[in-house]
Amino acid sequence: MAKLLVVYYSLSGNTERIAKQLAESYDAERVVKIETVTPYTGSYDEIVDQGQREVESGFQPEIRLVDAFGGEEVTLDLDDFDIIAIGTPTWWYTYAPAVSTFLKMYDWNGRTVIPFQTHGGWKGHVMADFKKACGGAALRNKFDIQFDSTGGNTQISPQKDIDDWINSFNNI
Ligand SMILES: Cc1cc2nc3c(=O)[nH]c(=O)nc-3n(C[C@H](O)[C@H](O)[C@H](O)COP(=O)(O)O)c2cc1C
Repeated sequence: MAKLLVVYYSLSGNTERIAKQLAESYDAERVVKIETVTPYTGSYDEIVDQGQREVESGFQPEIRLVDAFGGEEVTLDLDDFDIIAIGTPTWWYTYAPAVSTFLKMYDWNGRTVIPFQTHGGWKGHVMADFKKACGGAALRNKFDIQFDSTGGNTQISPQKDIDDWINSFNNI
């Protein structure tokens, strides 16, 4: 079985939920959470506004990578993995700024990347942006899943969509 790295950013838990389902079903080699060194604070609306400013200015926050289960800080050598699944919430029609920082840190040429996004109904151009940021990578099994439109944790897309997506990994 191909060695899978699952890496994700998740502010309110939706993307984390999908990442962990994938990791557990597939028996991922490593599951890594992207955290911003400076946490987002304030109300949901304030964070949405801050996110807009950050996306529009191309801001890339300082991040750290932590083991998704143990919480300890980790460093990653992407050569240790055959496939890399990267999950992000949709922020202003693209991936979250923390994921932008992450993508900038590595050379993606020749790698197999599986991008997935959670969103509230406006998917935007996340997948096209992944393609641009992961120059030379093969993007496979792209996936998006909808949660409610008010930033909550209610899953709108059926669970079967996630199960079908995870099952499709058997062909990689
Ligand atoms: C700053 C910010 C911007 C957002 N922009 C969008 C958007 O452009 N389209 C959309 O459908 N949802 C948008 N959302 C909603 C999130 O994508 C959605 O709630 C997602 O599932 C959250 O994932 P998380 O729980 O992993 O953080 C935005 C949320 C935030 C905080």
